[in-house]
Amino acid sequence: MSNKVYVTREIPKIGLDILSKYFEVEVNKKNRPLTKDELISKIKGKDAVLTQLTDQIDKEVLEKADTVKIFANYAVGYNNIDIEFAEKRKIIVTNTPEVLSDTTAELAWALLFAVSRRVVEGNNYVRKGKWKQFSPKLLLGQDINNKTLGIIGAGRIGKAFAKKSIGYDMEILYHNRSRDMEFEKEYNAKWVDMDTLLNKSDFISLHVPLTDETYHLIGKNELDNMKKTAILINTSRGAVIDEEALVKALENEKIWGAGLDVFENEPVVHNKLLDMDNVVLLPHIGSASTETRDKMAKIAANNIVQVLNGKDPISQVK
Ligand code: GLV
Ligand code: GLV
Repeated sequence: MSNKVYVTREIPKIGLDILSKYFEVEVNKKNRPLTKDELISKIKGKDAVLTQLTDQIDKEVLEKADTVKIFANYAVGYNNIDIEFAEKRKIIVTNTPEVLSDTTAELAWALLFAVSRRVVEGNNYVRKGKWKQFSPKLLLGQDINNKTLGIIGAGRIGKAFAKKSIGYDMEILYHNRSRDMEFEKEYNAKWVDMDTLLNKSDFISLHVPLTDETYHLIGKNELDNMKKTAILINTSRGAVIDEEALVKALENEKIWGAGLDVFENEPVVHNKLLDMDNVVLLPHIGSASTETRDKMAKIAANNIVQVLNGKDPISQVK
């Protein structure tokens, strides 16, 4: 009998085709994440599960996953899975690193451009019929050229973000647990402590995973420490920022603006953010390009193929 695989949301065909070649595959066809009860009942008797970042694979789920050998997460981030408990249960967890780094970095730049040059405000202005004539002081934004870029978290995505600043003559500051001399040399990036990064950067972009250490990494004190003209970009995980503190900082003009692809309680967005002009809000689409989602589907599927064939996965989370 062939192995059974459960896929918690429909992913690109390329991934499903790989799985269907070897296994009996069941896909959640509902256009929404499963509830915990649905999830627990669906993974019963399955050998592998392909999960999304919206699936909470906690102790309760893992305890009931008797037959599951691998959870293949369709994301680079895996804060939705209790990794330690999975390891205790000898269940393999994999993610989809590398293939989405440039795509996510591009979205961080899209947000930075959109906020600094007020692209969404301008678009709404035109569409609402408010544009009556050219105006010399209409929608004045900020230059990106020659500014100081602050990158918090210099993993693959943070570095890809830094790389894309070439051409804008920027000074690059970064903060990371460890220094990377090669990166510093290649991009003329300077490692600084957190305080220095916060008060010297014109634009700050977050590229850390969500862990106990990075939860609310950016709170009231950190926001107070930023320039009044600072723009904060977040394409990592919402809870890296204390959203309530961010709302207050934006309301009180402690910083200039924010570009957010992720939120503390997705898909719920703080209702005050919804009314602010100086923020651009996106529905967690950092890796959402056709090419990259295909690559993610392939990696996630191949991780399952490897493990169910008794081989090492391609990208195991440790
Ligand atoms: C998306 O947020 C991911 O972690 O891949
Ligand atoms: C992504 O792959 C990262 O490690 O930042």
